Amino acid sequence: MSILSGRRIVLGVSGGIAAYKAVEVCRRLVDAGAHVSPVLTEASRHFVGETTFSALASEPVQTSLWDETSPIPHTKLGQGADLVVVCPATARLLGTYAAGIANDLLTATLLATRAPVLVCPAMHTEMWEHPAVQDNLALLLSRGVHVVAPEEGRLAGGDIGAGRLADPAVIIEAIERMFVPPDLQGWKVVVSSGGTREAIDPVRFIGNRSSGKQGHAIAAEADRRGAKVTLVTTVDRPINQSIIQVRVESAEQMRQAMMAAAADADLVVMAAAVADFRPVAPAADKIKKDRGVPQVILEPTPDILAALGVVKPAGQILVGFAAETSDLRENALGKLTRKGADVIVANDVSAPLVGFEHDTNQVIILVRRAEADEVDIIDVPLDDKRRIAAVVLDVAASLRPTDGVARSN
Ligand code: CTP
Repeated sequence: MSILSGRRIVLGVSGGIAAYKAVEVCRRLVDAGAHVSPVLTEASRHFVGETTFSALASEPVQTSLWDETSPIPHTKLGQGADLVVVCPATARLLGTYAAGIANDLLTATLLATRAPVLVCPAMHTEMWEHPAVQDNLALLLSRGVHVVAPEEGRLAGGDIGAGRLADPAVIIEAIERMFVPPDLQGWKVVVSSGGTREAIDPVRFIGNRSSGKQGHAIAAEADRRGAKVTLVTTVDRPINQSIIQVRVESAEQMRQAMMAAAADADLVVMAAAVADFRPVAPAADKIKKDRGVPQVILEPTPDILAALGVVKPAGQILVGFAAETSDLRENALGKLTRKGADVIVANDVSAPLVGFEHDTNQVIILVRRAEADEVDIIDVPLDDKRRIAAVVLDVAASLRPTDGVARSN
């Protein structure tokens, strides 16, 4: 049975060209067993017909605060909803909602509901990037509103850029995830993400291709599942404000931040790609090229995962990654043993669409279970990094101490 079965979802549609895609979202929700109440703004009716939604949804379309059959439709809709989705959410809708203005049935419902709200912005690139829109979105995020970010692609009028409504499949997945039970409530989770930069001089560094996407996805998923999350990261990516972010650059800075944050954590995930070598003596001034090719002497960086493995308190679950280009299982098994981890998530970064910079990943997860002497190996086929994050956390949750109580409770 679908996780959406029987869920009461208010589907708000505001007035943008992407409104036609909300029809597909509506159809998929109903197919998955959800009860969908469509609410259209006046402007959206220029883009998509009421009849279309009324035919597909579980109830006829509502558009007005002055519906004759119900004197207070917004409170009824808001109170009865398990979730309110706005798809698409225009710049005007986001601004009105962020300002707390209730000037039609949809905005009144958004203020009247206590159910979670998911907005799916769609607009022209210039509007999407405008500080006013970004500020409104940041304000909504800080109030706990969930966002499905728009994609890059073809926009109305033939322009190409950021602002296109996310694909209906992505929106449906985000909606499904809103109903995931908060099984990590009471957990403190610490995640590292991104690649470290080791200075050669003030302008040059040794780095790697890590985008931070997988680590950020794990932090976001743990947050969604109710954990208190600290993210130690070298990269700037949008993330829910309830996550504590610690910005670092070098392996040494990451080591210090991780050792401090991990001391009382229930779960620690080293998803970062830590540079293995660093210059012994970074130059204080920019190395000038007319002085000849510099000889940079390197030394190993500290192995943070191994250091965390040494000081790991009883009951803490330690997850490491392994980026390999050959002998995936053997190398990952070696890291599991050498670094004192409970879990190693290993990927073959030479395979297409896997690992660094991609939105997708394909991994094997090696799990050491305390009660058994052997190591379980779970194959996870190519999937979105958010889905991989969910599987990694499922594995971690399955290692929860048998009393079911998190360490930080
Ligand atoms: N790691 C770490 N500190 C380092 C290097 C790696 O904490 N100095 C962690 C990574 O965050 C990852 C795991 O160790 O969780 C494995 O990293 P990986 O780069 O796959 O392996 P290495 O230990 O660097 O070994 P090799 O380069 O030989 O594959």
